[in-house]
Amino acid sequence: MRRALVAGNWKMNGSRSDIGELISSLVAELGDGVNGVDIVVCPPFPYLNQVADAAHGSELVLGAQNLSEYSSGAYTGEVSASMLQDFRVRYVIVGHSERRSLFAESNQQAASKFVAAREAGLTPILCVGETGEQRSAGQALQVVADQIDFVVGVAGIAAMAEAVIAYEPVWAIGSGESATSQQAQEMHAHIRGLLAAHDEDVAAAVQILYGGSVSAANAEELFACPDIDGGLVGGASLDAQSFIRICKSVS
Ligand code: G3P
Repeated sequence: MRRALVAGNWKMNGSRSDIGELISSLVAELGDGVNGVDIVVCPPFPYLNQVADAAHGSELVLGAQNLSEYSSGAYTGEVSASMLQDFRVRYVIVGHSERRSLFAESNQQAASKFVAAREAGLTPILCVGETGEQRSAGQALQVVADQIDFVVGVAGIAAMAEAVIAYEPVWAIGSGESATSQQAQEMHAHIRGLLAAHDEDVAAAVQILYGGSVSAANAEELFACPDIDGGLVGGASLDAQSFIRICKSVS
């Protein structure tokens, strides 16, 4: 039986004081954990230490929003997997659609970052998803298959056993309108089928999250779907009460 996972992607938001208040509220309400749910918070890099200290000793686990595919060296502005581990980071988001669209991150770069995370012992949260234009053109399943297959081709199916996948339809991110549970379940089952073609045990074990306007209002219905193992939450994760309700809505 797969455990559920809810991860908050705080993106480029917050200040020392805002984040201090947010993590304190989350530790107070979620620090003892929620049965069967892994809870991850992904602050911006500068606040990793502050959040790690505030969450230390609680059931909340730290994640990062990105990493370099390089281990060390002359890569100005980059952050390596080992640097993240210095701050007790356990998960790292890889290939987020905003990195792909705004920062020209390719499938190759996402795959290299995935490998770098795995080699350092971090759990990558590999983001995949189609744009509205691709969905309208009937290309959604193929686009996601290409993204998944590329990383499996580079990292190998065994690496997927220690990873998490997040399906984030680009058209639902930040829109306030999530995919329907039917749309999300169809894509999640498709992703699990793609992995099963390589290794049925890995496919059965991997957590597949949904992301894209997850809220306290829609989380329960989404998470009740058989192939949706939780959520990668953006905007709603910045509001403590909303994120707490989302974490507790896993049935
Ligand atoms: O990584 C999660 C994020 O892309 C979803 O954002 O604001 O639609 O929940 P949001």
